[in-house]
Amino acid sequence: MIHPFKALLFIATFACCASAQAVDVGAAKALSKSNTCGKCHDEGKDATTFKKIADKYRNDAQAEAKLIKHLTSNPQVTFLDGSKDEHKTVRTVPAGDEAQLKNLIQWVLSH
Ligand code: HEC
Repeated sequence: MIHPFKALLFIATFACCASAQAVDVGAAKALSKSNTCGKCHDEGKDATTFKKIADKYRNDAQAEAKLIKHLTSNPQVTFLDGSKDEHKTVRTVPAGDEAQLKNLIQWVLSH
């Protein structure tokens, strides 16, 4: 069951207009959870909340491209307490699944 579904998601992401496409909230939340994104981003514990990040990118046409880069290239980030570390990359199953990554990003931007 999983593979045909993923194939569809993949086709849907590339066939249609990226920003107009509906976000699969359940899939995004599951991926966020398995990557422990909330450990730092929930309620702005160690990092900015997804709401603030969404606000920052509200009028940025390059938002998706910038966040793909952010989430795949281990950039250096500054935590709310001032310490610095590499940002983690998103782990998908299968690895490097761009449709899942884009869905996660659109979910973050939808906050
Ligand atoms: C160990 C803590 C930590 C984890 C885990 C983490 N982040 Fe972050 N993230 C940060 C910090 C620190 C920053 C940079 C400063 C800020 O925005 O508060 C950041 C920034 C971001 C940004 C904003 C980039 C920008 O250009 O403003 C996004 C989007 C983001 N993270 C998404 C995620 C996602 C999605 C996950 C899960 C795959 C995740 N983060 C996991 C700490 C974390």
